[in-house]
Amino acid sequence: MTVVYKLNVFKDPEQLNQNVFAAQYAVRGPLAVRAEELRAQLKEKPDSLPFTEIINANIGNPHQMGQIPLTFIRQVLALCQYPALIENAEITQKLFPSDAIARAKELLEETGGIGAYSSSQGVPLVRRDVARFIEERDGFPSDPNHIFLTTGATQAVRMMINLLIARPYHGILLPIPQYPLYTASMALYGGRTVPYYLNEETNWSVSVEELQRAYDAGTAEGTEIRAVVFINPGNPTGSCLNEKAIEDILGFAKRNGVIVIADEVYQANVYDLPFVSFKKVLSRLQTENPNDAWDKVSLISIHSVSKGQLGECGQRGGYMEVTNIPEAAFKQIYKLASIDVCPPVAGQFIVDILVRPPKLGDPSHDLYHKQIKDVHEQLFKQCRQLHSALSSMKYVKCQEPRGAMYLHPRIFFPKKLIETAKAQGAEPDELYCMELLESTGICILPGSGFGQKENEFHIRTTFLAQGEEYLKHYVAGHNKIMEKYE
Ligand SMILES: Cc1ncc(COP(=O)(O)O)c(C=O)c1O
Repeated sequence: MTVVYKLNVFKDPEQLNQNVFAAQYAVRGPLAVRAEELRAQLKEKPDSLPFTEIINANIGNPHQMGQIPLTFIRQVLALCQYPALIENAEITQKLFPSDAIARAKELLEETGGIGAYSSSQGVPLVRRDVARFIEERDGFPSDPNHIFLTTGATQAVRMMINLLIARPYHGILLPIPQYPLYTASMALYGGRTVPYYLNEETNWSVSVEELQRAYDAGTAEGTEIRAVVFINPGNPTGSCLNEKAIEDILGFAKRNGVIVIADEVYQANVYDLPFVSFKKVLSRLQTENPNDAWDKVSLISIHSVSKGQLGECGQRGGYMEVTNIPEAAFKQIYKLASIDVCPPVAGQFIVDILVRPPKLGDPSHDLYHKQIKDVHEQLFKQCRQLHSALSSMKYVKCQEPRGAMYLHPRIFFPKKLIETAKAQGAEPDELYCMELLESTGICILPGSGFGQKENEFHIRTTFLAQGEEYLKHYVAGHNKIMEKYE
């Protein structure tokens, strides 16, 4: 009997959605893949490589790099995952502080359990706590109905880009350099990225002149610019915006009628300047100048449990606050959230702890805040150590970091390295990063994955790796590559 079959569309990838082919995500690109291969090789044949471990400085993934989860978070989650523990008072009271038990009970009662879908916008109690946190942080009101709990910050970004890009000529202003989630999402949803450049010489600052130049250039090319993204504190730059800069930026958004997307996932990772939220500045402008149409500026503010001192990347918790969004558009944001059903409930519970940590007098208060302080200090120490190692390297110039988890130095490659890369069809910074990985096991990323000006080269590295030993290998490996091409 002849078997009848027809080949499906996977036989011919060109027939698939080409937007997916176009999307690039350097953070998990070829260098990360190669690092995993080398890790597997080390496990099988420990002596086969010139190094003994892989240092993943390519991604802001703190627990992977040895950062310890905060005790209170894991105690509450443990009880929520296995509520039978709560029933057994004898055991539970020996192992868990009373405030962790109380929080777990409260969250379980509110939701019907960690294994149940929550409402699409997120658990109401958690949204109420997020709104209170924002009010205390900014000194202006926040409405729980304007909070969406999300699957990390990523879902918030994807939802907004999905909603805003309706035609191929629609565009969004993105900072260069940027976090590649943005360019990847623009590619996926078929919109146009309109780049505005951050000024490296002034610590990667944003200028309104540059924003307007980029807006005018994009518009002149026929792009309808709908929104502008700011990452503050910056990934990959580590820069921080002050209140005046944010006010100027909001003025730009108002004049040009563009929606502001403020990615503030690193708001707790600041080292010398205080963090100022876009929401606070917009609320102040609205209050002080009620007739100046500040309420026409729509703002999407994004936060996450993946960063700060929690580092709970794998739990996928986050939130966005939407400000000045007309009802009809709000309903469509709600619909997008409901199509995703709901964010992981465990992630939502962590959001609750992020915004409502144990308070003074609670049994877990001292330990929680000590752990937060220790992680913060440790990260800052690692940041200084890496900055000083990079500053000692030949051909490297690194701006002073102000926040986030990354350094993004410029590298002035010898001509021979640039020519060798071009001959191989690679970017010079890609070639450099690959050679560094192969010779030292240190995985960093090329600036080309984040965007940079033509003929400029950068590398992006996290400062999450602990200790100074790896920095010695880093400096030596760097010098060797440079000497090879000098
Ligand atoms: C600026 C920025 N936004 C968003 C994200 C995504 O984070 P999440 O794990 O919350 O999805 C990251 C992750 O590194 C980031 O750096």
